[in-house]
Amino acid sequence: MSGKLISAQEVVKHTSPESCWVILYGHVYDVTDFLTSHPGGSKIILQLAGRDATEEYDPIHPPGTLEENLKPEAKLGQVDPETVIQTDNTEPKEEEKEDEGPPPMENLLNLDEIEEVATKRMPHKAWAYYYSSSDDTFSKSFNNAVYRDILLRPRVFVDCTNCDTSTTLLGQKVDVPIFVAPAAMARLGHPDGEAGIARACGKFGAMQIISNNASMTPQQIVADAQPGQMFGWQLYVQKDRAKSEAMLRRINALPDQFKFICLTLDAPVPGKRELDERQSFKSAVKVASGVKGADEPSRPGGGGVGQQLFWGTASDLTWKTALAWLKQHTDLPIVLKGVQTHEDALLAARHAPQVKAIILSNHGGRALDTAPPAVHTLLEIRKYCPQVFDHIEVWVDGGIKRGTDVVKALCLGAKGVGLGRAALFGLGAGGERGVERVLEILKAETETCMRLLGVEKVSELGPRHINSRKVERDIFDGGAGLENFGLWDKVRSKL
Ligand code: LAC
Repeated sequence: MSGKLISAQEVVKHTSPESCWVILYGHVYDVTDFLTSHPGGSKIILQLAGRDATEEYDPIHPPGTLEENLKPEAKLGQVDPETVIQTDNTEPKEEEKEDEGPPPMENLLNLDEIEEVATKRMPHKAWAYYYSSSDDTFSKSFNNAVYRDILLRPRVFVDCTNCDTSTTLLGQKVDVPIFVAPAAMARLGHPDGEAGIARACGKFGAMQIISNNASMTPQQIVADAQPGQMFGWQLYVQKDRAKSEAMLRRINALPDQFKFICLTLDAPVPGKRELDERQSFKSAVKVASGVKGADEPSRPGGGGVGQQLFWGTASDLTWKTALAWLKQHTDLPIVLKGVQTHEDALLAARHAPQVKAIILSNHGGRALDTAPPAVHTLLEIRKYCPQVFDHIEVWVDGGIKRGTDVVKALCLGAKGVGLGRAALFGLGAGGERGVERVLEILKAETETCMRLLGVEKVSELGPRHINSRKVERDIFDGGAGLENFGLWDKVRSKL
């Protein structure tokens, strides 16, 4: 059946919810039955119906997606190449933007310069998706600005010849305390994708957490991993739990690489990302809008790529149910991402040893605008329930642009410091080599900062190396809010 030749004129007749065909990789697929279960909603497929959707489909779907989701008989045949209709895409193609090629990565001296190059070279839609954050983008900027309000306290007359940035995360040695945080669809920005990030991390002994919405399969991503290279897999629990259970089975099957599951909690729904949403209005291919369509319920928080990705995400997870469900489907430790208050940090610590770490994160400012930066939550934990640091590891992400930012987070008790956009912009600037450059710069800056502080080892860094008074002034100062945890004194002595 799949050898049958079908003309593009025939395909173009099937553009309705009753009969919807698309061309992908030269084959014609009948996706009518799949419309209602597409995680991005039916509208996006209908907008591509009747034509070649490969260019839109490919960067955001890992191989195997078609086989997993469509019945074999949905593959109707091959499109007659003589009759193919070109997609009407108003955006200039990446090759057209890239007449000169990227500058040598070693000429780029800091993360802002890398982002500048990425901004010019990446497809605009990818850039807008990565760059965007919610509402008035306050949290995104503040994530970075808050580090400027912390001052360093360098000690002198300390031998720092042998500065060592290595540390451990969940008991496993890593060469840098810097990790790549989960960020969706790396191939949207560059064909090297998540595998390119993985190879760069391999060179620097850095941990990588891979997005639930990765654009490559787990096997492809870890294919060139170094011995002992550490990965975590991010999970957005899907409304259709069977899908998440299948994903967990795939990750459980790769125990040499995947050391934990990172459950994201800060975005049960996406924030309203207007920059991302705006691209869908400009593009010839409209992405699902926040406005209610005739065939589907409204999508709170606007439209854009983000909306598509979040469409199938469950928003009904609770402390009571989610961890117990996870226990049934994986023996891997859990890292909870998106903790933003000391109360939730303490609750997470109470779930040790299943929960081994938390990531203090406001989702790069992409979820709730004006939510606190990780630095505030670190300080809150230190103030109200410092015992959390003894029970689980505390990692942070958001706003990291300099080695001094990394060091300040470590001084406040973070064990690992995550990069989200920085890795994607590295990829956008120069593919795998661009990500290497990001890690190279941050590692070197971190070393310089440690040396100038008079510190040789990551484990020596502590609050005495910083003056965070200005930030402390602004952190939450209400009641502990731990009444439900038992008496406050009890809470302080044991979890
Ligand atoms: C985002 C999700 C997918 O922020 O993590 O777009």
